[in-house]
Amino acid sequence: MASSSSYRISFCVFVVLIVMASAQLSSTYYDTSCPKALSTIKSVVHTAVAKESRMGASLLRLQFHDCFVQGCDASNLLDDTSSFTGEKTAAPNNNSARGFDVIDTIKSSVESICPGVVSCADIIAVAARDSVVCLGGPSWTVQLGRRDSTTASFSLANSDIPAPSLNLSGLISSFSKKGLTTKEMVALSGAHTIGQAKCSSFKARLYNESNIATSFATSLKSNCPTTGGDDNLSPLDTTSPNYFDNAYYKNLLSNKGLLHSDQQLYSGGSTDSQVTSYSTSSSTFSSDFGSAMVSMGNISPLTGTSGEIRTNCRKTN
Ligand code: HEM
Ligand SMILES: *[C@@H]1O[C@H](CO)[C@@H](O)[C@H](O)[C@H]1NC(C)=O
Ligand SMILES: *[C@@H]1O[C@H](CO)[C@@H](O)[C@H](O)[C@H]1NC(C)=O
Ligand SMILES: *[C@@H]1O[C@H](CO)[C@@H](O)[C@H](O)[C@H]1NC(C)=O
Repeated sequence: MASSSSYRISFCVFVVLIVMASAQLSSTYYDTSCPKALSTIKSVVHTAVAKESRMGASLLRLQFHDCFVQGCDASNLLDDTSSFTGEKTAAPNNNSARGFDVIDTIKSSVESICPGVVSCADIIAVAARDSVVCLGGPSWTVQLGRRDSTTASFSLANSDIPAPSLNLSGLISSFSKKGLTTKEMVALSGAHTIGQAKCSSFKARLYNESNIATSFATSLKSNCPTTGGDDNLSPLDTTSPNYFDNAYYKNLLSNKGLLHSDQQLYSGGSTDSQVTSYSTSSSTFSSDFGSAMVSMGNISPLTGTSGEIRTNCRKTN
């Protein structure tokens, strides 16, 4: 009796482990099927970032915008057609998301060595990591084995990618909806240590908020006037825009966050202490950022026989 029930328990544990394993990603996924996949991706990323530093930021952001919409399934790479509206024209992406040509170059390079093996979703995740490393930031082990969606969602791209107008509680709930903690949200926001934002993304903060350093606001206003100039760019981290460091958090301590959402992380609320800690310890930020990128990369991947391995990242097979 006792032994039959313990048999049943271990059988159940065994089944649960199998089910979990099939939905799990692995860092060695392409080791036998495409051993040169990672070095090929890295080499294209290095070339692209050497040519234009900002491309590293754009590739990193692609993973965020992929994973927050239907999970990490490369849904954000699908082009619109006459009969299909994808995510590229949704508000957070329209005239803003970039790096699609670099993803295409990577995809054709890996297709030429291992056709039909490496997913677009995994390419995004590896390119994001390699971009951060190229710009002097931390490295982390990328989990692999995601497959690509055959669908995309314009409406989820609009609703689930957080807007820069959100307050701290809005930011916390937007990440929590994706299974990410407040701590991970604060760490991932450190991605804004690189890259650029359009005047339209921070104009309201520039002219209407009081928790912005006067000198900082003044210096931004000529490139971002009250009317017009909406597409003009300013760096998210003025101090070191092409270097992945902890300057983003130091800026927040002196009210020099560019976006409303950035400054929300240090505005008298529950996340102030974490911002202070990252501003003084780049090593703590680095390791928390890498762990949080792995968590973000685990959001609802397609595995097993779900989805497909696209031949061209811009369209379904
Ligand atoms: C916390 C909530 C977040 C909000 C509200 C937010 C919002 C924004 C906005 C409004 C821009 C500027 C877009 C433009 O003006 O064209 C931007 C840029 C950027 N975001 Fe975020 N973001 C958030 C989190 C993240 C995360 C988690 C990552 C990556 C891990 C990320 C990476 C980037 C990068 C690298 C850029 C610069 C892109 C470039 O220069 O091409 N952001 N973000
Ligand atoms: C995307 O931007 C283009 C060019 O600015 C604009 O014409 C178009 O209406 C925008 N699309 C959506 C869905 O807002
Ligand atoms: C944050 O924004 C939401 C939605 O706009 C609002 O309901 C809430 O009161 C705001 N919270 C704080 C603390 O300002
Ligand atoms: C500043 O706030 C006022 C009142 O809410 C609004 O009418 C105006 O458009 C805002 N200015 C900017 C640049 O967003």
